[in-house]
Amino acid sequence: MPVDFNRPVPVGRELEYIGQALESGHISGDGPFTKRCHALLQQALGVPQVLLTTSCTHALDMSAMLLQIQPGDEVVIPDFTFVSTVNAFVLRGAKPVFVDVRPDTLNLDESRLESALSPRTRAIVPVHYAGVACEMDLILELAKSRGIAVVEDNAHGLFGKYNGRYLGTFGALAAQSFHETKNFSCGEGGALVINDGALIERAEIIREKGTNRSRFFRGQIDKYTWVDLGSSYLPSDILAAYLYGQLEQRERIQNHRRNVWNTYAIGLKDWAARHDVQLPIVPEHCEQSYHMFYMLMPNLDLRQRLIGYLRDRGIYTVFHYLPLHLSDMGRSFGGRPGDCPVTERVSDQLIRLPFHNVLTGDEQEQVIEAISEFAF
Ligand SMILES: Cc1ncc(COP(=O)(O)O)c(C=O)c1O
Repeated sequence: MPVDFNRPVPVGRELEYIGQALESGHISGDGPFTKRCHALLQQALGVPQVLLTTSCTHALDMSAMLLQIQPGDEVVIPDFTFVSTVNAFVLRGAKPVFVDVRPDTLNLDESRLESALSPRTRAIVPVHYAGVACEMDLILELAKSRGIAVVEDNAHGLFGKYNGRYLGTFGALAAQSFHETKNFSCGEGGALVINDGALIERAEIIREKGTNRSRFFRGQIDKYTWVDLGSSYLPSDILAAYLYGQLEQRERIQNHRRNVWNTYAIGLKDWAARHDVQLPIVPEHCEQSYHMFYMLMPNLDLRQRLIGYLRDRGIYTVFHYLPLHLSDMGRSFGGRPGDCPVTERVSDQLIRLPFHNVLTGDEQEQVIEAISEFAF
């Protein structure tokens, strides 16, 4: 039997809730299930406002609009991340400044941050890679001292913690993903976490096509109208129903994923040490979200050979981000080979192993056994 890299399946009452949404007759955005997701996430994270969005990409787009990013502004981004982290800000005319990542956690290297800041820097966007926290104390301190906003790209890190505090609660804003590869999913989806209360009302407007419709629905005004920039960033309540079914099972999902992660870490430890393969490093003060398990192979050739070797055995693995500064867009902003050596190296070396909410012990044994027999 093949071992899938990802298998997004219902684990609780998702289908029942979708049925309820359909029967209720409210399947557009901001229906009863969207409100239940908002309440659950606000309470679980202890934050003033969470708004579901159609993707994490859109939550990032909203963040750039909320911060009124404009041409001439600079935004500091780790080089090792998904395109959306940077694209959201470039869409508003900002210039990205890419910072290399730490060789241990693959997170924005905070020791390189200060030299990346300029009087034009408007935002720093740390990404908690694999749901392991960035060094938020230092990042926040630097940002505060310069009056720069922090937007956490927390696509991987829901329910992960840094020094006991939930990821997504540090920046003025944070973006979550509920894409099918994430711990909790509704196919395509996301959320904007708003920690700065002053941004809540405008976030509602931007999400509702630039109108004050949310105030109208709350009975605060008797007509709604176009008041600002915006677009349509609210997901259907059918998707929110599915997502609510997933979020309700958060303890079960996270326990399962913790087991999967620990099984890989224990099962591959000796083989990795013998072959100079780096397994994920999670600092003591970080409680990870158990989003993924990756390995850093000694070089690109071995990484590619391992992916092919596992595929021949019906085991599906993937690599991750390419260095942003070397993409066509990155080069157009001045990116050159050698600018971010750690990203350039780990991008060649990284392989992600099968990891999902219904991965079985037998499947994991198959993966670990196959890797342990990979000779080089
Ligand atoms: C770090 C990071 N940010 C943002 C995204 C975009 O998420 P979405 O597909 O929900 O737009 C991804 C996608 O996986 C990601 O890895």
